Amino acid sequence: MEKLKVIATASALPAQRVTNDDLALIMETSDEWIKTRTGIKERRISLAENTAQLCTKVATKLLAKGKLTADQLDLIIVATMSPDSNTPATAAIVQGNIQATNAFAFDISAACSGFVYALKTATNFLKDEKIKNVMVIGGEVLSKLIDWNDRTTAVLFGDGAAGVLLTANDSGSGVLGSDIKTFGESCEKLTAGTDQALAEFPPQSSKTLRSAFKMDGREVYNFATRQVPESLKRACFDARIKPEQVDLFLLHQANARIIQSVAKKMDLPLAKFPTNIERYGNTSAASIPLLLDELVTQGLVVRGQIIAFSGFGGGLTLGTIILKY
Ligand code: ACO
Repeated sequence: MEKLKVIATASALPAQRVTNDDLALIMETSDEWIKTRTGIKERRISLAENTAQLCTKVATKLLAKGKLTADQLDLIIVATMSPDSNTPATAAIVQGNIQATNAFAFDISAACSGFVYALKTATNFLKDEKIKNVMVIGGEVLSKLIDWNDRTTAVLFGDGAAGVLLTANDSGSGVLGSDIKTFGESCEKLTAGTDQALAEFPPQSSKTLRSAFKMDGREVYNFATRQVPESLKRACFDARIKPEQVDLFLLHQANARIIQSVAKKMDLPLAKFPTNIERYGNTSAASIPLLLDELVTQGLVVRGQIIAFSGFGGGLTLGTIILKY
């Protein structure tokens, strides 16, 4: 087992709620279509607040809940596909905002698998005895990447941030197994924020235009329903446990139907696959820590449980971590 203890969880959500009916006022869609195809009823949309600001709120809460001072942090990792800028990294902005002067900080870009990739990275860094306290945050303001005239993507996504404060000690908590994969040959199935290279020099315009979200929804759906059960099985094999021994499966919240299909393929009760997609939509790298924070707050995730985290999305990326909480 690789030592990894979650000291605290926290989240930050924009105040603005946007229901399916609100969206039906600005595009040709309906509450009925969105609910039956995805399970989403409403999402949060950030007004004026960017990704680093939401992540900073999470970081501040994590320090308070974990009873740590900012200078006790050694590393901050932010998983995001909607950073405020190419550089500085969102994690660097957070590090500066909370004055974590002893921490180094960087972002991970693995779309909806970002939190799992970041957790795996943190686990490896925590093997270095000089690194004691690590923050992993998944944060997204996806609303800025959406084409609000494209109903096929606009109804799916939401904004938010959430994270965990981690340490490695002898408490008995840790990573039992994992499975991480990338399918780069399918990278064009889900893209956002693409910048074109210059077509000519000198350039005609000084402005670069970033492209909005584009997704082959059906292909990504098939990828997820095919690959997530396999990833869960490989991670359980790596952990030397049977899938039935996992107490809770915290899957990336992309579509309630994907989660139902994974539970069915694994022949496991749906009750082991909690969801909150109905309230937040797909928040990419934030979705798994957002769900974890809710369950911890409700007392539904407790010490000693075996929890599987599984993400899938742009890249295409896939990742599962089995944690003894
Ligand atoms: N409202 C009303 N009708 C719509 C809407 C909408 N918002 N969007 C599409 N439709 C219509 C389509 O035009 C189509 O009409 P047609 O049959 O007349 O052509 C019909 O509804 C069915 O469309 P499909 O795309 O076939 O619907 P599907 O059942 O595949 O559901 C969805 C689409 C929800 C996107 C699904 O494919 C899905 O969840 N895919 C997975 C997405 C995912 O998991 N992403 C994860 C990664 S995200 C990340 O990494 C950031």
